[in-house]
Amino acid sequence: MIQLKEKFGTWAIVTGASSGIGKEFAVQLANQGLNIILLARRGNLLEELSNNLRTKYNIQVKYMAMDLTDDNFIKNIEKLADKLDIGLVISNAGGARMGAFNKIPMIDFEAMIKLNVFAQMKISHWYTSRRIKENKKGGVLLVSSTAAYQGVPYAANYSAAKAYILNLGEALNFEYKNKGINITTLVPGPTNTPGLTENPDADMISNMPMKPQPVDQLVKEGISAILKNKPSYIGGRMNRIMAGIMKTLISRKRASAFWGKMTYKMVHIK
Ligand SMILES: NC(=O)c1ccc[n+]([C@@H]2O[C@H](COP(=O)([O-])OP(=O)(O)OC[C@H]3O[C@@H](n4cnc5c(N)ncnc54)[C@H](OP(=O)(O)O)[C@@H]3O)[C@@H](O)[C@H]2O)c1
Repeated sequence: MIQLKEKFGTWAIVTGASSGIGKEFAVQLANQGLNIILLARRGNLLEELSNNLRTKYNIQVKYMAMDLTDDNFIKNIEKLADKLDIGLVISNAGGARMGAFNKIPMIDFEAMIKLNVFAQMKISHWYTSRRIKENKKGGVLLVSSTAAYQGVPYAANYSAAKAYILNLGEALNFEYKNKGINITTLVPGPTNTPGLTENPDADMISNMPMKPQPVDQLVKEGISAILKNKPSYIGGRMNRIMAGIMKTLISRKRASAFWGKMTYKMVHIK
């Protein structure tokens, strides 16, 4: 297997590294010998993870507690990254407020757009500009969701934000493929993380028709996809089949209705 370090560079940035998919990316990248910058709000979890990664994998780790909805978060990343050879950015941090659209405060939706859309767009812009200036290879892995393929009722703002990421990433993949920067959008379906199992807005697990994908498998697939420079990649065979059916065999209206009936059972705010 081609080593990430040789292909891209010696350091990786992982957003949303304190939990779930981001934390697993940090572990698997560390296992491949990459040095890592961990970002999320909960500094205590980042400190604990950075100690574990240093001890277990003998790599360098930096971390900073930061809120990616802050306007100046890129300046803080720039300071932390300084002159490091940042080969890879895993732009993963995200979240969802779920429930009846009109009953969720606008301030929460705005924060979700800042996190799910602005933060991923800004970090991609910062990194591609920096890497082109440095004239070096690199990679950006954006994290979307299978919710991107159709409007998902009771998660309308989330599915719209994830559709933005999917389109952004697929377009950037083409723009940068001859410039030495791989850009892949990982499209997870339900994945076994606290983001899914502990979302205070919804009881997803007991109302889901399929078992969530184990997070280590999803991340393994994501790493393989960016090494192959896939424009986008759906995690998990079942999710690929489901997405295929939704995209080709049924109308967008029916796809939204299918999701809507399922999501309605999950959410607390109806
Ligand atoms: N799990 C799934 O089923 C699933 C399916 C499709 C897509 N996804 C996507 O996968 C990504 C990761 O989700 P997950 O399931 O791993 O969720 P998770 O376990 O809740 O982790 C989310 C991560 O994002 C960070 N984060 C949240 N808000 C932040 C903010 N304002 N500033 C900085 N960091 C922030 C959290 O850290 P702090 O709380 O410490 O800030 C945490 O590290 C998200 O983009 C999600 O939409 C997940």
